[in-house]
Amino acid sequence: MTTVDTAATAMIIGASSSLSKELARQLANQNVKLILFVQQPEAMQSFAAELNTSVEVLPLSILMPDTAISQIKQAWQQHEGAHLVIINTGVNGYDSSLPWELEQGIINVNVMGFTAISNCVFKLMKEQGYGQIAAINSIAGQRGGPSMAYHASKAYAANYMQGLSMHAQRLKLPITISDIQLGLLDKAALQQNRFLLPPLEKVAKQILTALQKGKRRVYVTKRWRVVAWLNRYLPEYIYNTRHWKSKKKK
Ligand SMILES: NC(=O)c1ccc[n+]([C@@H]2O[C@H](COP(=O)([O-])OP(=O)(O)OC[C@H]3O[C@@H](n4cnc5c(N)ncnc54)[C@H](OP(=O)(O)O)[C@@H]3O)[C@@H](O)[C@H]2O)c1
Repeated sequence: MTTVDTAATAMIIGASSSLSKELARQLANQNVKLILFVQQPEAMQSFAAELNTSVEVLPLSILMPDTAISQIKQAWQQHEGAHLVIINTGVNGYDSSLPWELEQGIINVNVMGFTAISNCVFKLMKEQGYGQIAAINSIAGQRGGPSMAYHASKAYAANYMQGLSMHAQRLKLPITISDIQLGLLDKAALQQNRFLLPPLEKVAKQILTALQKGKRRVYVTKRWRVVAWLNRYLPEYIYNTRHWKSKKKK
């Protein structure tokens, strides 16, 4: 663990993804202390050493919710809480034969694990008296799609965040709940399609700006708001193109 004088503390849950790493870099540049939760902490050590802030990398067992809750609680106690917790765990997959194992894996991480983490963090922030929880979510949750469990899990996460926000307001708790609705990412910056897929640096910057403004829900990058709107309101016969095509063949 590197120790430097810092202004605030942020936890990133699911910190091994390229987007999480970019968020970590930008938060480190803002002098924010970081606690990074990953499946394999040893694989993150060299990345952590590059960051110019106080960093600790800890294990996360999201498939064992009770263990994950203990891991978060232990870190919370050790670091005396956190101002911001970003939840960026997620899995996706597609197989037209619809194997149950694929659906189960998505539900376990995106629904069960996500609920265990956000529920635990909310209660820790309630005790602490303040905080902000940000879920890196997807516009895929606006409507059903070809990866059924993934789309459904993202709708679940959005509704869970809304419920937590309502709960915080009813209890008059200064806890901000932010739902980050992502479009597609240029994860490896390999696609070179800067028009459709914005670079991670820009995505992370827009996310952190929205969090600083305490936004409840934000579309990143901004142009994906239009896609999200279309996804939600297109009539079924246009949205469900395969249905439309098969009808045309008859
Ligand atoms: N990529 C996109 O275009 C896109 C678009 C819209 C929304 N999103 C959303 O953004 C979030 C991150 O997506 P991403 O594309 O950045 O995915 P990613 O690179 O695969 O990252 C997912 C993160 O979740 C962690 N994770 C997965 N399974 C886990 C498990 N069993 N236990 C602990 N950690 C686990 C991964 O850790 P490991 O590396 O250790 O497995 C990784 O840190 C997801 O919620 C996704 O829905 C992504």
